[in-house]
Amino acid sequence: MKVTVFSSAAPKELNEVLEEYCRNDRVNVLDRSCERLDMESDAVADAELLIIDCPNIERLDWAAVESFNLKHPHSTTALICDADFERVLVQAMRVGVRDVLKHGEISELLASVIERARIRLAASQGTRVAGKILTFIPCKGGSGTSFISSNLAYVLAEVHNRRVLLVDLDLQFADASFYITDDDSGRTLGDIIRRNDLDGALLDSACIKVGKHFWLLRAPQTPEQSVGITPDQVDNILSVASMNFDYVFVDLERTLDPLSLRAMDRSDYIFPIMQAVLPYVRGTQRLQRTFRALHYPESKIRLVANRQGKTDDLPAAKIEAALQTKFFVQLPNDFPNASASINAGKPLYEIAPDGVLTKALIEWTNRIVGAPTSTTAAGSRSLGQRLKTLFG
Ligand SMILES: Nc1ncnc2c1ncn2[C@@H]1O[C@H](COP(=O)(O)OP(=O)(O)OP(=O)(O)O)[C@@H](O)[C@H]1O
Ligand SMILES: [Mg+2]
Repeated sequence: MKVTVFSSAAPKELNEVLEEYCRNDRVNVLDRSCERLDMESDAVADAELLIIDCPNIERLDWAAVESFNLKHPHSTTALICDADFERVLVQAMRVGVRDVLKHGEISELLASVIERARIRLAASQGTRVAGKILTFIPCKGGSGTSFISSNLAYVLAEVHNRRVLLVDLDLQFADASFYITDDDSGRTLGDIIRRNDLDGALLDSACIKVGKHFWLLRAPQTPEQSVGITPDQVDNILSVASMNFDYVFVDLERTLDPLSLRAMDRSDYIFPIMQAVLPYVRGTQRLQRTFRALHYPESKIRLVANRQGKTDDLPAAKIEAALQTKFFVQLPNDFPNASASINAGKPLYEIAPDGVLTKALIEWTNRIVGAPTSTTAAGSRSLGQRLKTLFG
């Protein structure tokens, strides 16, 4: 998507949201005040999302905004301003602005504006937005990668009603499925991975339905089925999966091989999972070196600290300093609920919907879909907030 931003101040929150949610978009931030919106310049003329940061609404060039919206019916215009909302909303609606938010709401609401713009654009082109591929890799064995990725995927599907597929690419141990289901119907990735005619229906036939919107593609259960799988075949599965699901989660094993490298190449984001003890710090440093050698941009890597809060943990700030990166998410240690979930073979969200770890996973999914944080469901925004989205 082509995103153009008019902002003379470019607030920190605005840059952060653009970095997080428009990583693969073409973003143009123009250092201009909202009095003189040069809508004819190339950077603006083909914008599919136009964000106007307008500290002084009295000076906004409303006529220019209207003329842009008339010429570009499939693009989305969003206005950031702090003025008297009632008045601005009416005016904004008249000139075709779809979203109005305050500066203090950028972190909370702009991501969902971006996602809606993306969906509108795809709908206008008769296409589907390709699902995002999120890959989870242990920085060292036993960090909780399979448990966290499978439970996070389940929460995303349940709470946000997104179609989610979890692909278990841990061909050695294949434990992701045990964390969420006891269905052992025998269907696995091995049944379809060598098919040249792979499509959505065939993919479906190999998946186990675990929730209303959640499917699982198990790793092959025998070594013979795993032998000889090629990176191109992994690539093909991920391509078909991303065209048929909103989110494709990939659970990797700890050793890097050509299959896991291809999965990571194809991913929108990679989440290395570590714990706050020294061996994991070393493991993370090794992974970081690999990512650098592969020229992955830093914004693609999102480090996760799991099982935080144990007495022998190293302080998070110390680890961040050693690794020269900030944790994207910190998850609490929740031994009782994790054990109960594993022993029952049921997702954490079903066993302990109000548990500390479940809550942290819900918060994380809010960030993934761009929903306001500190809510338990996408639909639970306040009426006032919803009103600010003018045309949905
Ligand atoms: N936040 C947490 N609180 C408590 N226990 C946890 C937490 N996260 C994971 N665990 C437990 O850690 C154990 C190991 O988890 P898991 O199998 O997911 O690790 P892994 O990183 O995938 O390991 P492997 O290297 O074998 O693939 C599991 O028993 C799981 O219940
Ligand atoms: Mg694992």
